Amino acid sequence: MRIDIITVLPELLKSPFEASIMKRAIEKGLVEVHFHNLRDYAYDKRRSIDDYQFGGGAGMVMMIQPIDDCITKLKSEREYDEIIYMTPDGETLNQPMANKMSMYENIIILCGHYKGVDQRVRDHFITKEISIGDYVLSGGEIGAIVLCDALIRLIPGVLSDETSALTDSFQDNLLSPPIYTRPAEYKGWKVPDVLLSGHAANIDKWREEKAFEHTKNRRPDLLED
Ligand code: ADE
Repeated sequence: MRIDIITVLPELLKSPFEASIMKRAIEKGLVEVHFHNLRDYAYDKRRSIDDYQFGGGAGMVMMIQPIDDCITKLKSEREYDEIIYMTPDGETLNQPMANKMSMYENIIILCGHYKGVDQRVRDHFITKEISIGDYVLSGGEIGAIVLCDALIRLIPGVLSDETSALTDSFQDNLLSPPIYTRPAEYKGWKVPDVLLSGHAANIDKWREEKAFEHTKNRRPDLLED
């Protein structure tokens, strides 16, 4: 998978890709991430990428021309499955969306800033708008990192078997059951006997029941779907 991220703040984006799972995925050649500084496509003396809103109102708007030039250049080099705009009024990211997008070859992620982008960018270039939750961030960069992490860990070969993504919360619309490690007893607090029993079928059954119970208590909406 190749991910092209268009941003005014490339320095904010880089470090999460230099650690842990995302770093490993890049090193293994399973994903390529490219950062594009929007200011490189602004040709006036001040390298402006934003301007005042038509009709008045507080906040600057990201201009169409630098975004058009950047996206058009990228599209001339390869085909993209999706051109994504990170915005709080987009579709809220969830596991089924991440599962689907993790199978894409090439995506562009445009990070919004200030008041957002000129509507014509959304109308003519963007194919999908994604929010990471019902709150407003100062820009789309942190959302882009969240999206990349959610996608990259699902690419076959990125996670070792031991950390398989199939057992994550939200796969199968269930939250994960409780987990424990050694010691089996700490300050009198015991690990459930069944997990120490070595009886695989009973352990599976216990985990299923606990996952269901936990989901029912915390996220009953998931069971309604
Ligand atoms: N940009 C600002 N807030 C955002 C959010 N909640 N999700 C995605 N992008 C954003």
